[in-house]
Amino acid sequence: MTKMLHICVTPRGAKSRTLKITNTFLETFKKRHPECEIDTINLFSEKLPEISLDVTDGKYLLMAGGEISNRLKPAWQEIERHIARFLSADIYLLSCPMWNFSIPYRLKHYIDVIAQPRYLFRYTEHGAEGLAKNKKMLVIASRGGDYSPDSPSRSFDHQEPYLRTVFGFFGITDITFIIAQPTDALGADVMLERITAAQNAAKRLAESL
Ligand SMILES: Cc1cc2nc3c(=O)[nH]c(=O)nc-3n(C[C@H](O)[C@H](O)[C@H](O)COP(=O)(O)O)c2cc1C
Repeated sequence: MTKMLHICVTPRGAKSRTLKITNTFLETFKKRHPECEIDTINLFSEKLPEISLDVTDGKYLLMAGGEISNRLKPAWQEIERHIARFLSADIYLLSCPMWNFSIPYRLKHYIDVIAQPRYLFRYTEHGAEGLAKNKKMLVIASRGGDYSPDSPSRSFDHQEPYLRTVFGFFGITDITFIIAQPTDALGADVMLERITAAQNAAKRLAESL
């Protein structure tokens, strides 16, 4: 393992439950892999490029087999920089609370930035092919409610299915989730218990890598 991209998707810093679990993971992971470079991108402090007309024009050009024209190059510079940073990692660590049954909007923005044809995926005569191959992703998530398989709210979970779909589309199919839930609905004692359980799972996962 040579490079990890830690994608941090909460604005809550030291208050974040998700980052508490992530920090436990990283403590063990760093000891086991001192050689691994960890690049952290905090999507709440990073300025992401807008998906403008020039950016979408470039996307359709690429999809039609063309190249980014000189006119579109300035708008595409930042898009290509984010794609290169993303693709340079062998392993992704995504720290992501649930927001409104899905992902925080800043992560959706980031996905819209990097999801470009011929960089992250391509269409072939056999269908779509993800181009981010041989990579692994770990998702550490927390949720105020409980969406576990036997809970009545399971069908409200658009976070895990969406992340598996979109990163799977990019070619990243080896995805492990560690989820602390509920962190709000049943009070502070249950929150603490579920965060501790997730921290233990995160430590075990780090020991297995
Ligand atoms: C804007 C916002 C939207 C949220 N939406 C949901 C939701 O749809 N379902 C849920 O179970 N919890 C929701 N929550 C609660 C968080 O998922 C939960 O408190 C989580 O543990 C916060 O993680 P953090 O401390 O790492 O930011 C939401 C919280 C915020 C701030």
